[in-house]
Amino acid sequence: MLKLTGYKKIDVAVFISGNGSNLKNLINYSLKKRSKFVINLVISNNIKAKGISIAKKFKIKNKIIKYSNIKSAEKKILFELRKNNINLICLAGFMKILSKNFIKNFDGKIINIHPSLLPRYKGLNTHQRAISNNDKFSGCTVHYVNSKLDSGKIILQKRVKILKNDTANKLSKRVLKQEHLLFPKALNKVLTSL
Ligand code: GRF
Repeated sequence: MLKLTGYKKIDVAVFISGNGSNLKNLINYSLKKRSKFVINLVISNNIKAKGISIAKKFKIKNKIIKYSNIKSAEKKILFELRKNNINLICLAGFMKILSKNFIKNFDGKIINIHPSLLPRYKGLNTHQRAISNNDKFSGCTVHYVNSKLDSGKIILQKRVKILKNDTANKLSKRVLKQEHLLFPKALNKVLTSL
């Protein structure tokens, strides 16, 4: 069971595949006195992920896990998570789908940030799809991870207005700024509800 006992901070792992701007933001938040969590492990499936250098800069243990075989990749990840006493996993731009079996091991303890107002636009190219459908808003969602893609219970959402002549690129930059506010807020909400 995940329990907040006394002043002990919750040990969190962040999974990334790319830039790691959400990772950087979560790390910065975790360093604040009021933070209830500490990031102890960064997992990447991609050796070229920029986020790895962010983990290194902050001296956070980081592991690159080759994904040529899902089963053995997940086995290695589970080993690292247990070795580092990880209680909660944040998926921050992690481009691999976790198996049912993996999720079972961390049931209710994996959260993800997704760049759309779920349940709209699961999957990729979310902002372009919102623009093409003439939506008034795009945005971002932090949700629990279950075995269906981008479908777990929603924790928090933030809307971002789609402007006239918006492009997916411009919109994604504005949404990313909101993601950086939303993710730590959602993580705190998860931790205080325990
Ligand atoms: C973010 O837009 C996030 O919502 C999505 O992947 C992107 C990751 O960005 N899941 P970064 O690597 O955190 O900069």
